[in-house]
Amino acid sequence: MKTSVLFVCLGNICRSPTAHGVFEAILAQEGTKNIRSQIDVDSAGTGAWHVGEAPDRRAQACARERGYALEHLRARQVEPADFQRFDYIMAMDRQNLLDLQAMAPKDFAGELKLFLDYCDMGVSEVPDPYYGGDEGFSHVLDLVESASRGLLSELESRYT
Ligand code: 4NP
Repeated sequence: MKTSVLFVCLGNICRSPTAHGVFEAILAQEGTKNIRSQIDVDSAGTGAWHVGEAPDRRAQACARERGYALEHLRARQVEPADFQRFDYIMAMDRQNLLDLQAMAPKDFAGELKLFLDYCDMGVSEVPDPYYGGDEGFSHVLDLVESASRGLLSELESRYT
C-alpha cells in the first residue's frame, strides 16, 4: 500500500523543501527495497508569497554541501485536497501545526503532527532560518536529518 508524506512550513522555500529533499534522499539511500517504492513525498507552505519559486539559495547551498539537491523543487501553497492526498502531514513548527489543524477536515484520518516528534535531539520545532544567517540553515539540516531517520523507521515498522 502506498503511503504519502507532506512536509509543511510557512513559505515552502526554506524548511519544508529541505525536509522534502533530505527525506527523499535518506529514503532512497537507507530505506529497505520494499519501502522505497511505496512512499510519495511532497512539500508545501501555509503562505502563498513564494508560490512557484525554487528554494531559498542559502537552503540550496547548505543542502548541497551535504549532498542533497533541492533546486528542482518549486513552492506551492497547502490546499484542501492535500488532506485527501496525504497520510502524514508534518508541520515544521507549532504555528504551522495550528494553521493546518484549522484547515483539516474533521474526518482527516492521517497523522498531522510536528515533524520533530520523530527527532531525538530534544527540540520540538524547526526554527525559521529565513531572517538569520547560514548557521540557521545548517541547524535546520541537522534537525531534519534526524527526524527523517525517525520517520523512516516509523514507516518501516508500520508498512513492511
Ligand atoms: P520557510 O521560511 O517557512 O521555512 O520557507 C520562510 C520563508 C519566507 C518567509 C518566512 C519564512 N517570508 O516571510 O517570506
